Formats: sequence, structure tokens, C-alpha cells
Amino acid sequence: MKGAGVHPYEKFWIAVAFVFVATFVTVILVAAAKQATGVPDHMEMIDPAAILAGTAGWNPGVTTLPDGTVQVTVTARTWSFLPDKIVIPAGKKVIFRATSSDVIHGFDIVGTNVNMELVPGYVNQVSTVFNAPGDYLLLCDEYCGIEHHTMSMVITVKEGI
Ligand code: CUA
Repeated sequence: MKGAGVHPYEKFWIAVAFVFVATFVTVILVAAAKQATGVPDHMEMIDPAAILAGTAGWNPGVTTLPDGTVQVTVTARTWSFLPDKIVIPAGKKVIFRATSSDVIHGFDIVGTNVNMELVPGYVNQVSTVFNAPGDYLLLCDEYCGIEHHTMSMVITVKEGI
């Protein structure tokens, strides 16, 4: 008996499947390169109960590190961010450190490539530079309950501060 071989139609659809996979992989790689998207690589744990008790050494707010980098520490909780508004300088490296003290929240700065998921028990971190002054909206983009849609914060970026 001759080998069963692969029917031409089947060969065609196998080729189509490969083209689809290659296209999707290309789109992911191009998006990663062009929009600087990537997976979180910061591994740091924190006790949500200690945040609520104020014993975690976790101090929400804006600080400037010795090298001039601005560090923003944010707590997400149902249904607000702490602090709920900040002012930071334009053109300087800004590190956002954020966590949740209750359920999973999102951390999406509209119009930028900053988008993190905040999982209770973990600190997520991302750095960016705001070149254009103005008001930026930080949204929770992870459904977290009845008031999810109200969970936001204003980031004001100013020149020369
Ligand atoms: Cu927090 Cu949605």
C-alpha cells in the first residue's frame, strides 16, 4: 500500500494556518518593539494587611531619589487611588511603584504605554518619561466592583519643576 500522503486541500489549510500564526507572532513582536510593550519583570511582595495597618513601610506619594529620578508610590483600593492627584516634572524619569490593598485593580495611564495589573500581595513597577506637559488620566482598567468606573487619578505633568 502506498503511503497515505497529505491531500492537497489539507496541505493548503496547513499552509494557511502557518501564515496566520506567523502574522500574529509578527504583530506581537512589532507591537513590543514599536510601543515598548513588555511583561512585568519586577518581583517584590508586600503584605496587604500591613499596608492597611500602616506597618508595611509603604508610603504613597511622590519622592525624588538621589539620582534625580522621581518615584511615585501608589496604593489602589476599592475604589480610589492613593494619592488621588500628583504633580510630577516633564522630561524626567519617573518610576511608578504600585500595589493593591484589597482586590485586583488596573493601572492604565491613558495615552501612554504605562499599563499594569495590581495584584494584592505584589508590588508592580514601571518607569517612563512624560515629555509633554499636561494632565494625564490614570484609570483602573480591571473590573473591581460596583464603583470601578469611578476609580481614577489625575497626573499633572509640569515643565521646570
Ligand atoms: Cu479598581 Cu476597577
